[in-house]
Amino acid sequence: MSTQPRALAASFLKDLLKHRKKLDSLSQNADFLNLDSRDRRLVVELVYGVLRNLRLLDHYLGKLSRTPLKKLDESVLWVLRLALYEIEFLRIPDHAAVHEAVGLCRKIGKTSAAGFVNAVLRSFLRESPTLPEGRSARALAVRFSHPEWLVKRYLARYGVDQTEQLLRRNNEPPIPTLWVNIFKTDLQSLCRQLEEEQISYQVYPQLPNCITVRSAGFTQNRAYREGLCFFMDVASQEVAYLTEVKNHRMLADLCCAPGGKAFLLASQKGKDAKMSCCDFSLPRLMEARKRAKFLQVPGLNFINADLRLTPPFRQPFDFVLVDVPCSGLGTLRSNPDIRWKIREKDLSRFHSTQVALLQNGFSVLRRGGVLTYSTCSTEPEENESVIEEFLAEEPRAFLAGDFHRTFPESHPGDCFFAARIRHEGS
Ligand SMILES: C[S@@+](CC[C@H](N)C(=O)[O-])C[C@H]1O[C@@H](n2cnc3c(N)ncnc32)[C@H](O)[C@@H]1O
Repeated sequence: MSTQPRALAASFLKDLLKHRKKLDSLSQNADFLNLDSRDRRLVVELVYGVLRNLRLLDHYLGKLSRTPLKKLDESVLWVLRLALYEIEFLRIPDHAAVHEAVGLCRKIGKTSAAGFVNAVLRSFLRESPTLPEGRSARALAVRFSHPEWLVKRYLARYGVDQTEQLLRRNNEPPIPTLWVNIFKTDLQSLCRQLEEEQISYQVYPQLPNCITVRSAGFTQNRAYREGLCFFMDVASQEVAYLTEVKNHRMLADLCCAPGGKAFLLASQKGKDAKMSCCDFSLPRLMEARKRAKFLQVPGLNFINADLRLTPPFRQPFDFVLVDVPCSGLGTLRSNPDIRWKIREKDLSRFHSTQVALLQNGFSVLRRGGVLTYSTCSTEPEENESVIEEFLAEEPRAFLAGDFHRTFPESHPGDCFFAARIRHEGS
């Protein structure tokens, strides 16, 4: 047992929600990188586990602490949440979790709170507080640790059974899914390599070059480090195959970073086709370009541009992907922090940006060309209503096929939305 990983998890979680840091910044955190692999795994388990169960943990703590949680010292509150998570969800002996939490109070300079922390945790072990029963929005929000406004939306749209299914799925770890980088290898060769290394994998037959792996620490694997594959959720991969692009000569991915869908599109396009990849964030664009070089993806032209402004292109495109910035509410398995960062009122802000990006994306499409609009959100403001508002104002645009949605009931991936729009004007 060691206090170090718990101290790091507590301070990371505090900063993550208070200063809206990014969850994936954990993997670049210097203290995290200094830990051995066992302690790193514990930090990841604690950070993701606490985020997936935050409301539940606070429900318990609210019943046990005489001081309202809002009035508790923030660092002490995180110590309590971590310890409670360990007691309730991990196979760490109860007395060890309590002992660690008390030690952690001392380590972070909160010695005076040690007695309080000890008392709260011991009363949890004695009393086992109850959870709200039934299927009301509040009861589900507590039991599945989601914000109540989001549960209300799910209930109104999907009904109780599908809502429970989605809430449960949102709290599961994602299935690690890879795209086999056909610019460096092929599916068969990679599978052979994994077999030789006794890594268990499964081919996902519905998509080309897609496999899932069940191996902790796959990022240390040779195939991964050599760029023979990269992680990409199956629902995200699917978006890149919605339109057949092999006969298109001019392609654009207007919100391209960090590049996943652009690389999959590049794998389908003809040899002479040109593909422009834009992003308004220069650091993210540079990262996408670096990845493209490492993965040996040929024929991509990277451009730093803000798509809210007039796009910087002279020639129109046959195919445009507008994979817009969104709330990410469809990716709660991999990004459990999002549910605590996004507020309901943020959705209208996303909506207006998304409509503007779609309009400008369409403006660079040639007549007869096709545009794919996509989000990793479940919410209609970012999905159907963007498309409906756009179509109502653009007489040259027509919906090609049905809306594409991935949902746990019938799909192993994240919740994505996509719509294909055809330019049929003069
Ligand atoms: C959902 S991500 C794209 C993911 C990417 N298509 C992939 O598959 O890896 C959205 C991207 O849009 C970019 N973005 C946000 N606002 C933008 C704007 N006004 N113009 C261009 N890109 C923008 C963000 O920097 C972000 O990289």
